[in-house]
Amino acid sequence: MGSLHVLDHPLLQHKLSILRDKNTGVKEFREVVGEMAALMCYEATRNLPTKEVEIETPVAVAKVKVLAGKKMAIVPILRAGLGMVDSMINLIPSAKIGHIGLYRDPESHEPVEYYCKMPPDISERQVFIVDPMLATGGSASAAISVLKKKYGCKYITLMDIIAAPEGVAVIRRDHPDVDIFVASVDERLNEHAYIIPGLGDAGDRIFGTK
Ligand code: PRP
Ligand code: URA
Repeated sequence: MGSLHVLDHPLLQHKLSILRDKNTGVKEFREVVGEMAALMCYEATRNLPTKEVEIETPVAVAKVKVLAGKKMAIVPILRAGLGMVDSMINLIPSAKIGHIGLYRDPESHEPVEYYCKMPPDISERQVFIVDPMLATGGSASAAISVLKKKYGCKYITLMDIIAAPEGVAVIRRDHPDVDIFVASVDERLNEHAYIIPGLGDAGDRIFGTK
């Protein structure tokens, strides 16, 4: 059974205030998204299994812990999820990267899939789906369904910077096995399915497209 983890670390909350500010420019916005992804990755990987091994330091033998569990994969939901990948891969350099392209239809707000490419052994990997925004939950739920049904993934964690309560409820309903890590659960969605107070359009603010 998965859980919702709301990360209230002061560094994350301070950085989130920078993302929310409409006066934050593209360069800083992109940098802070990456910094938050690294801090969130630290929390989302807290319970990874380790095993004890011996290594020789320059002066003695030391019993040390190394990662022992499944190989990992990072799957950004295009486009905005790309902003979280580099800092994740810095921390987990052996992870493979899959991409899933989904955009929200402007009228229906339903996700439309336009791209998907996964590492061949993804079914055996611990998958971290990354996307700054969980609004209606449609995109993340569709991405998780593709990973489960088409690729046979069984171990999936979802990382979003901001979630709406509506989006959290959709993931809990559709995929109760998935752990969700967020830095904030905001108030609600508006009539355009944007998160309030949110930070606006994450993709546009990362890539400077508006
Ligand atoms: C945004 C965001 C999520 C999605 C969340 O992407 O990055 O993928 O919306 O909304 P949902 O929970 O209601 O599905 P968008 O569709 O704007 O595409 P983009 O990243 O290409 O800008
Ligand atoms: N996608 C975004 O980028 N922002 C929102 O508030 C909702 C969906």
